[in-house]
Amino acid sequence: MLEVRGIDTYYGLSQALFGVDLELREGEIVCLLGRNGAGKTTCLRSIMGLTRPRRGLIALGGRAITGWRPDQVCRAGIGWVPEDRRIFGRLTVHENLRFAAESCPRPGAWSLDRIYELFPKLRTLREHLGTQLSGGEQQMLAIGRTLAVNPRVVLLDEPCEGLAPVVVASLGQAIRAIRETGTAVLLVEQNARFALSHADRAYVLDDGRMKLEIAAPTLLADETLQERYLGASGSEAV
Ligand SMILES: Nc1ncnc2c1ncn2[C@@H]1O[C@H](COP(=O)(O)OP(=O)(O)OP(=O)(O)O)[C@@H](O)[C@H]1O
Ligand SMILES: [Mg+2]
Repeated sequence: MLEVRGIDTYYGLSQALFGVDLELREGEIVCLLGRNGAGKTTCLRSIMGLTRPRRGLIALGGRAITGWRPDQVCRAGIGWVPEDRRIFGRLTVHENLRFAAESCPRPGAWSLDRIYELFPKLRTLREHLGTQLSGGEQQMLAIGRTLAVNPRVVLLDEPCEGLAPVVVASLGQAIRAIRETGTAVLLVEQNARFALSHADRAYVLDDGRMKLEIAAPTLLADETLQERYLGASGSEAV
């Protein structure tokens, strides 16, 4: 479904990714873990065409999308939920969803109704402004807005950050429900336990290099591996 092969990404002269490979199959949940500054966000930005890799290949469904603009990548079927959520504060919940669906229309299962079924809380808040939402509600809206475009792949950057455990649990259910529709999910998380307990496979990045690819349950069950690959920040979260 999504294939990333040997990408090198730079910020100016400084190289952030070194030959990164990554693969996401249809309906798979894959997590991308690693310490602060490892290059996780850069990896998502590279896929979206926000920070273009200098070398390597990115393909979606067998078609190369390397070098495409972010709006073209979005139309091709990759949705991105950025870490800072970027809700339109002066639009209502419903307007935020409608705007997304209309700005990048793609056919598919995710009607606004279906999104409200996934996040019933959003339906009760549909006339509320973006600025009136809690962190958890904003995160639901950010995910809903991405689904409104009917992506084949969703990239989630630290969706649990700053959220209460009960909200985190409901996000986990939502991520599984997204996968049920065949949409693949690439989940970047500091909260390794959360990510590993929902993912099929895991990748670990360190210093811009891919260090490990492993079945998520295997890494979840192995504290020695977690300590080795995720270090202090990993063991805190795990
Ligand atoms: N806009 C930028 N300009 C220059 N360097 C950047 C920029 N964004 C990130 N970097 C650098 O690229 C490297 C990877 O950063 P990135 O944000 O991808 O890491 P991350 O794994 O997402 O970290 P975190 O867990 O803190 O979000 C870091 O060394 C960072 O300092
Ligand atoms: Mg990041």
